[in-house]
Amino acid sequence: TANAMWGGRFAAGPDAIMEAINASIGFDKRLAKQDIEGSRAHAAMLAATGILSDSDVAAIREGLLTVLSEIEGGGFQFSTALEDIHMNVEARLKQVIGEPAGRLHTARSRNDQVATDFRLWVRDQADAAIQGLEALMRALLRQAEQGADWVMPGFTHLQTAQPVTWGHHMMAYVEMLARDRSRFADARARMNESPLGAAALAGTSFPIDRHMTAAALGFDRPMANSLDAVSDRDFALEFLAAASICAMHLSRFAEELVIWSSAQFRFVRLSDRFSTGSSIMPQKKNPDAAELIRAKIGRILGANVALLTVMKGLPLTYSKDMQEDKEQVFDAADTLMLALAAMEGMVRDMTANREALEQAAGSGFSTATDLADWLVRVLGLPFREAHHVTGTLVAMAEQAGVDLPELSLAQMQSVHPGITQDIFAVLGVHNSVASRTSYGGTAPAQVRAQIARWKEMLP
Ligand code: ARG
Repeated sequence: TANAMWGGRFAAGPDAIMEAINASIGFDKRLAKQDIEGSRAHAAMLAATGILSDSDVAAIREGLLTVLSEIEGGGFQFSTALEDIHMNVEARLKQVIGEPAGRLHTARSRNDQVATDFRLWVRDQADAAIQGLEALMRALLRQAEQGADWVMPGFTHLQTAQPVTWGHHMMAYVEMLARDRSRFADARARMNESPLGAAALAGTSFPIDRHMTAAALGFDRPMANSLDAVSDRDFALEFLAAASICAMHLSRFAEELVIWSSAQFRFVRLSDRFSTGSSIMPQKKNPDAAELIRAKIGRILGANVALLTVMKGLPLTYSKDMQEDKEQVFDAADTLMLALAAMEGMVRDMTANREALEQAAGSGFSTATDLADWLVRVLGLPFREAHHVTGTLVAMAEQAGVDLPELSLAQMQSVHPGITQDIFAVLGVHNSVASRTSYGGTAPAQVRAQIARWKEMLP
């Protein structure tokens, strides 16, 4: 039998395979709340503008609430034959309130309807991402505060570079996550315009009030072009792009936690609550949450690429291709929220090993740059010469199997006679970090200033 919604020109119903490829109800049922919210706003506007009678609209708005509670209560029977959430809701509304249900779709199309629903959904997710990021930033701030002056090795090429502070390293992620947060906020601000009332693509001849529905749904304004309104998904792509970048940050931090929690590093101890054991090796405590966070970017970036690929080359306006937008965004959003929550839990629970950090901070000739700087500052050597002298001393220490501070003054003077006992003060890791007082540098005073700034800025 032909479709109840649009079957007028059809003699036969769809093939089962057609139904299978066409239906989106299996996933777009997640838009139920937004769909009903949008429909209720649309109906209220139809009454306010005199397009529908107050009594019809009262029945529609009331009936929609009944349908929503059925869906939320889990008792709703979704039908694949009804394709998607929009038609499932409308069909049920018809059963609940009868004839007025057929008037709800006046001056509207599923094209502007789905664009509206999806914007509302993605907007909620942008808010959730911002909240998740803020929680993680607060956890990082607590770590940073506790170890603002704990020394650890800073790395380039994953080789020891210069000593830094634990607080400084934690705060580096606060900065990155803050940019992620502002990307979601930017995307949210740009997406916050209402497509509702664009109808199928051209607008409508009914005297609708798009400003009214936009305001009712919390949008800043109606979208200015009906063709654009039903045919772009850039708002979802922006969300996915922000999510991809955020997931990349989480992945890098996760990788550091994997390395740091190893027996070779022992920089951090992850809590039991965020670790797993091995079924064969009794000693094992594995950083599975960190590893999974490291990997999750695959799905999120995958969604970004998938949707961009769906959208490229599509002629205006709506094409059914665009129904492929939802699953990608649903999965990416779920994945991101879970990764943020897991990272927040891990960071909140983890214990930094101050002794191991400090021990590692001094290894690998980490204060060689301090030595070179001293030669410049005190002896007036050109930096290039100081670099060479220091390199010779590092080679000497390496040969002897000791660290720089363990070389004797005589050994040092054999390389440069101007070196004095004072040099040993700058070879210590605490002096090293304390000296890096340039703005944004690793000196504890700088780090504390940044912590204070962020504590004030974070809600
Ligand atoms: N389920 C559809 C989607 O998600 C709703 C819009 C259908 N519009 C249409 N003209 N067939 O894109």
